Amino acid sequence: MQGVARNFFILGIVMAIAGMMLGLSMAMSHNHVQMPVHAHIMVAGWLMSAVFGFFYHLFPAARQNRLATVHFWIHAVSIIVLVISLYFVLAGNPGVEPVTAISSIVFFLGMLLFAWIAIPVINKS
Ligand code: HEM
Ligand code: HEM
Repeated sequence: MQGVARNFFILGIVMAIAGMMLGLSMAMSHNHVQMPVHAHIMVAGWLMSAVFGFFYHLFPAARQNRLATVHFWIHAVSIIVLVISLYFVLAGNPGVEPVTAISSIVFFLGMLLFAWIAIPVINKS
């Protein structure tokens, strides 16, 4: 894997390790308050990053698009800020919620950017 594909896959692996550590701590403590944080780290962090990594690996035309790097940074920063801020919200700090809201919207914009990059490549191949 090269370039942005590799970055996405490494990000996904880091997310999987962090999410599973949180899952284990939830299971061991019998405290599932952070379940939405665990769920989003696992699916939006690990699975989505892995799918993006495979996509950019399979379609060189997509990873050569300069916007692919922008997509990586939007996805990486927004998912990290989203799950950390959500952790604090669920731990009893409702004041952090605007950070979660903004990072959710940025995360969604990352998905729209991916659609913009991917759909022309899919149609041509
Ligand atoms: C070390 C491995 C893992 C542990 C110990 C673990 C632990 C947990 C725990 C304790 C819950 C809360 C269940 C509840 O309160 O109903 C949970 C929920 C969840 N986990 Fe994990 N998990 C692990 C791996 C994974 C993986 C690999 C994924 C996905 C790739 C995943 C996705 C989810 C999701 C989506 C939920 C929410 C389920 C729901 O909505 O009811 N987990 N996990
Ligand atoms: C803009 C980004 C997103 C926002 C704002 C969002 C918001 C939410 C909310 C409000 C819930 C309900 C949580 C609860 O009842 O405690 C939820 C649950 C869930 N979401 Fe998301 N979500 C986002 C992205 C995603 C993505 C991209 C995936 C999958 C790849 C996903 C998978 C799930 C799953 C599996 C659950 C059930 C587990 C749980 O209740 O925590 N979400 N999400």
